[in-house]
Amino acid sequence: IIVIRSIDEFRIWRRDIAGSVGLVPTMGYLHQGHMSLVRESRRLDDVTVASIFVNPAQFAPSEDLSRYPRDEARDLRLLDDAGVAVVFAPSVEEMYPVGYDTYVAVEHLTQPLEGASRPTHFLGVTTIVLKLINIVQPGRAYFGQKDAQQLAVVRRMVRDLDVPVDIVAMPIVREDDGVAMSSRNVYLTDEQRAAARVLNRAVSLAERLFNASERDARRIRAAMAEAITAEPLAEVDYISIADAETLAEVDLIDRTVLVSLAVRFGATRLLDNTVLRTGSPGMWPRADGP
Ligand code: PAF
Repeated sequence: IIVIRSIDEFRIWRRDIAGSVGLVPTMGYLHQGHMSLVRESRRLDDVTVASIFVNPAQFAPSEDLSRYPRDEARDLRLLDDAGVAVVFAPSVEEMYPVGYDTYVAVEHLTQPLEGASRPTHFLGVTTIVLKLINIVQPGRAYFGQKDAQQLAVVRRMVRDLDVPVDIVAMPIVREDDGVAMSSRNVYLTDEQRAAARVLNRAVSLAERLFNASERDARRIRAAMAEAITAEPLAEVDYISIADAETLAEVDLIDRTVLVSLAVRFGATRLLDNTVLRTGSPGMWPRADGP
């Protein structure tokens, strides 16, 4: 596996690549969710590039940037075994040199949900994703459905700015007990880790109610809230049932909606979600495959 740390060096490597290139952008500390993105790129693209960059611009000063888990040696082994050709792993100074002054803002989709708790988060995400796309110049870039709003925001940016890349989304990958894979799961104590099962339980409850023809979003939110409240270590940040395209909250489920929630366990905030489809699949991947 080749590890490239400078943009200039990457561009030199990129110049000689003839086939299709897929980009799997990551912040490292890889889990099977990331590896599902790598596998899909290996299936669809001639060459797979992964990036590892813990992006300071998407962390607020109060957040976990300095303690974000890292294990580059392990990440490189996993990516090598999975057939990744090149890992782009720049330093912070390489991506944000002295005098750096430009940010990409998706104005409205970034306001609710994650944006309400993390007002500058998506400005950092869109900026780094566009920079990575400009450097790697992939035909496809891969994102997990786990971060559903990030996926929607990136798709909006790519459409609005005519970025010549296809965004491919892959379903949430779960641990055996249903907890969605996340690099942040390592922060949890054993008790919190056991309590974290409540997120998937609430998501499954929403799916069951919907499948039993419940279309009143307020009733589903209330049932989810009750399920979370039953877990004393869990503190709800939001429980949302929103139009899957605009992320505006709905009262009645008469279109495809994103059911999403953020729940705190001590200082650790975990996400989960599901998409409930009323009509055409649209831009959201199915839980049973892309
Ligand atoms: O989802 C992530 O890991 C990050 O937000 C991303 C897309 C790599 C940008 O830093």
